[in-house]
Amino acid sequence: MFSKTEIKEILTQGNDEILIKGLKIKKKIFGDEILLRGIIEFSNRCRRNCLYCGIRASNKFLKRYRISHEEIFEIIKNIHHYGIKTVVLQSGEDVKHDIKKLGKLIEKIKSNFEIAITLSLGDLKKEEYRYLKDSGADRYLLKFETSNGEIFEKLRPKTTLKDRLKNIYILKELGYEVGSGNIIGLPGTDLNTLVEDLILIKNLNLDMIGVGPFIPHKKTPLKNFSPPDIYLSLKFLSLVRIMNPLSHIPATTSFDALKKDGRLKALKAGANVIMMDITPPIYSSNYEIYNGKSVISYFKNIDEKLKTLEKMVKSGGGVLVKNIGKSLKK
Ligand code: 5AD
Ligand code: SF4
Repeated sequence: MFSKTEIKEILTQGNDEILIKGLKIKKKIFGDEILLRGIIEFSNRCRRNCLYCGIRASNKFLKRYRISHEEIFEIIKNIHHYGIKTVVLQSGEDVKHDIKKLGKLIEKIKSNFEIAITLSLGDLKKEEYRYLKDSGADRYLLKFETSNGEIFEKLRPKTTLKDRLKNIYILKELGYEVGSGNIIGLPGTDLNTLVEDLILIKNLNLDMIGVGPFIPHKKTPLKNFSPPDIYLSLKFLSLVRIMNPLSHIPATTSFDALKKDGRLKALKAGANVIMMDITPPIYSSNYEIYNGKSVISYFKNIDEKLKTLEKMVKSGGGVLVKNIGKSLKK
């Protein structure tokens, strides 16, 4: 497809050709449709201390919460009423997760609603991944964050890239639709890292690909590092689209945190999925992975949020759809 030298040229040059190509390929595969997914950030407790992340264990300025399973069920009942067909259950690596209970909740959700469940809970044991899959979970998101092993270990203490990749392969083997991806512009990374990130993404043959710019968070050790350029980030996303035409690629909220209308720009560069934060606002203000999360996250009313997203998608020439949005690779 592209040589490493070509990728570097594209990422450094100043024209829009690659963004236009990213959009064209998205339209060829998905037409005008932008898939809607709901996301519940159900616990901001985390045992890890990733240097870039606002909910790292050492951040003492955060009020920690854990949404009960009963409440999660109620939220899903509510959004199902609005026709949303995919829910992402995301949390930090909460050591108090009761995997057996979580499995029961998943079973209950799946037997009551026609809805796809995506989990994003970080590193678990293989048996736990298996149990949750057997309980009815459809998809799992586990980002590799950076393809540079040394930087990975520096920024994610007590974890290794090798173990992370092992888990991604386990998830695939268990039959999950799998999502992964990087953070663009992590401190210490350079153009070569981005090239290797792109190649790793391609080689992992992913159903979903989440990429987004690094956003410095005030209560982390990386607070003084700069985020990457928006243009570089968008070109990276377009390359991801061109190299992985069939994958679902969300316009992540970090694009909005980087630049006004960032998510809209990401849709125009090749993303085909948009996430709606459906975490009740009393909690979501404490789920700050990075500063400056989209204000859309804080609107109380789901109806209002939906309308805002519909308008945004329409302004980019798309149509918001609520399909289950299965992987095109399965
Ligand atoms: N900037 C951008 N993305 C971040 N994430 C965590 N912290 C940051 C940050 N400061 C991303 C990671 C993680 C996802 C839930 O949020 O990629 O996998
Ligand atoms: Fe925890 Fe994930 Fe944040 Fe790391 S990136 S501190 S594992 S929530």
